[in-house]
Amino acid sequence: MAHPIIFDTDPGVDDAQAIAIALAHPDIELLGMTTTYGNVDVTTATHNALLLAELADQAIPVAQGAAAPMVKPRHPAPAHIHGANGLGDIDLPGVRGQAEPRSAAQFIVDTVNARPGEVSLIAVGPLGNLAAALQLDPALIDKVKQVVVMGGSIKEGGNVTPVAEANIFNDPHAAARVLTAGWPLVMVGLDVTHRCVLSPSHMARIEAGQGKLGDVLAGSYAFYRDFYQEMLGIDGCCPHDSCALAWLVRPELFTSQRGHLNVATEGDAEGQTIFAPENRAFIEPRWSRSPLADVCLGVDGDAVVEWITETLA
Ligand code: BDR
Ligand code: CA
Repeated sequence: MAHPIIFDTDPGVDDAQAIAIALAHPDIELLGMTTTYGNVDVTTATHNALLLAELADQAIPVAQGAAAPMVKPRHPAPAHIHGANGLGDIDLPGVRGQAEPRSAAQFIVDTVNARPGEVSLIAVGPLGNLAAALQLDPALIDKVKQVVVMGGSIKEGGNVTPVAEANIFNDPHAAARVLTAGWPLVMVGLDVTHRCVLSPSHMARIEAGQGKLGDVLAGSYAFYRDFYQEMLGIDGCCPHDSCALAWLVRPELFTSQRGHLNVATEGDAEGQTIFAPENRAFIEPRWSRSPLADVCLGVDGDAVVEWITETLA
């Protein structure tokens, strides 16, 4: 069964790989990409989204979105992880196409309303575009099929602070709106993405299978791999954003728990995702008031990495 999706992204090395999957997988119908700042500024994100689709010879609408967080100032883009150009500082060809005249939020609203109940939103960057779409059309919560968020961390700890994952930390106010909106939502966070390690030999198979796009995926991966080697001491990369698509197409590879999500927006815990399992009583009810969501806590990491590689090889 095909999954019609909008892919909300800040490409970004791991975003680029996920975009390649969305372009390639026969069970995914990529209706459009919406871009946000995050790994890069938003104009670079838009350029990269257009470029990746062109390298795959596909005409996919790209709508530009959030340039900064809703409330707090924007942190500098992490050029040491993704490169200043978001794709490992490799030389990139120019793009021919242009972004949509519509904003990312408007694109989401229009596309979901055109196919109510069918469209999944896959969000793998800071969540300002989804928050803005909800503001434009609050009834979206009943019209999307589901929302899959790569972001957050429950037991794993953070990657940009001791407790916060980057996408949530980058815009905690937007994340609070999106994760507590009450739409069918799955969180695919560091608890599972850190269990998936894509090795250089997997990447060699992907490079061989992806033509011109493969050169960009492999070149940028080499840069990203250096970061993982230095920071985590692993030989390989965590394909965070591809895991959201793995969940979409192969949910049986994950285990999840249902419960209430909240996001800390201030103080030392800023950007932390807080999970209160369903039907569990705490000293006060306040953590259990938000709508229920599903949170991935376990994964067959080897199987996910194999799925990614087979999809692209
Ligand atoms: C997330 O942060 C970004 O740097 C990656 O692209 C991914 O979406 C991982 O924390
Ligand atoms: Ca991302």
